[in-house]
Amino acid sequence: MATSGLALGTERNEALDHGLELLRAAWTEFDAARLMQPAVERDTLRVDEPLPQRGEGVVAALDAASQVLDQSLAQTRPRFFAYVGSSGLESAVLADAMAHSYDVNMAGESGAADAVEKQALRWVGEFVGFPAGGGAFTSGGMVSNLTALMAARTHALPRSRDEGMTVPAALYASSESHSSVERAAEILGFGKRHLRSVPIDGSRRMNVAELRLMIEADLSAGIVPVAVVATGGTTLTGTVDPIGAIADVCEEFGVWLHVDGAYGLPAAATASKAHLFAGLDRANSVSVDAHKWMFVPKACGVLLVREQVELFEAFQHDASYLVEHENYRHPVDGTLEYSRPFRSLKLWTAFRAHGADAFRVAVERDIELAVELAELVRARPNMELLVESPDLSIVPFRRIPSRGDIDAHNHRLGELIQADGRVFVASAVLDGKACLRPCIVNFRTSSDDVRALIDIAEELGRDLEERGQ
Ligand SMILES: Cc1ncc(COP(=O)(O)O)c(C=O)c1O
Repeated sequence: MATSGLALGTERNEALDHGLELLRAAWTEFDAARLMQPAVERDTLRVDEPLPQRGEGVVAALDAASQVLDQSLAQTRPRFFAYVGSSGLESAVLADAMAHSYDVNMAGESGAADAVEKQALRWVGEFVGFPAGGGAFTSGGMVSNLTALMAARTHALPRSRDEGMTVPAALYASSESHSSVERAAEILGFGKRHLRSVPIDGSRRMNVAELRLMIEADLSAGIVPVAVVATGGTTLTGTVDPIGAIADVCEEFGVWLHVDGAYGLPAAATASKAHLFAGLDRANSVSVDAHKWMFVPKACGVLLVREQVELFEAFQHDASYLVEHENYRHPVDGTLEYSRPFRSLKLWTAFRAHGADAFRVAVERDIELAVELAELVRARPNMELLVESPDLSIVPFRRIPSRGDIDAHNHRLGELIQADGRVFVASAVLDGKACLRPCIVNFRTSSDDVRALIDIAEELGRDLEERGQ
């Protein structure tokens, strides 16, 4: 049925029932691995057609959307091992749909949503062990890092908001930190050259002695050390920097400590890995992406700060169209974004639905699967584990062919696995060695899935060898 207006009218009930049916089918499908990834059928999807001037009706449009999704790479599937994925936790998906329906804007006063956002920030702080005095929900790790570093810049150079960067200033992060830190250094006017790339030690953690030397050298050259970014789970290998030792240096020199835990910080809530995050409570700010290892759908970045005032100092503007009452500041005065969706509702709902223990158990389970995967690799004489033992849940490994170039073989193997479609894993280069870099952050992934990854890598690797590649 063609619709003439935007309101669903009499089509609403049918649309709702149909939408739920599609959702039910998708969720049921995600319970088990699919045997292949379908090809993108441009003709069926009609992706080359021009803008429709008349509607085809919401049921038909939802069917088309469902086809698009079916032919897209869904990170929710249990055998999606690439990058640091997310898993579209069902309870949170429903809460997100409701949040979008009400379309609350978190820029200004929003009633209960405001209180719930603050509660969710406190809950995340409690979950990971950080005394959060405030923070913000963001679009993800990039924006959280940028926001934290803006607060650090304003803290160290209070006049920089008015005058720009009139003195040279530096940031410090390990050579394995995420590129969002480099991007933040560019955007905030430090300049890429003033992001000091601190070398890593033999266990891939930031070398704290080198950090100290770099800060001392900058101080003697008249360069202001503004912030150190410790990574709580690097993107390449999941290694956690020595946060306590870095905090010692930061305290000694009065430098802001930000912990980028976009991927790894939920592990701080587990019994087996909490020790790796000792010292977290001494940071000025920490970030974690709930849309990574806390399973809720994108976007749900969380930035926590020890003192909320630091965010206000960095972002407050007096806009005549946003009048503030006494003792009340609009959330926009503590964040980078203006219009902002009610992202925290999905995490808050998921915490209420399942309880924090269920999250701990799911994260711990992924850590156990990573151990299992590492053992499976070690057990194969023709596979090599590229980290001694994974800190968290990233397990870089490669296949050693009986002859020929190992890097070329693994590059090709990565491509072949993706084309095959039974599992999805990303390639990486670690210390110059081409490898596969599975990351396990999905509550749906099981032991069978991990075994399938190794079996498929071996099967396709053998095929390649037989073809002389
Ligand atoms: C350590 C780390 N920081 C920051 C980011 C950026 O996060 P986002 O993609 O949510 O902006 C990532 C992404 O994987 C990450 O692993």
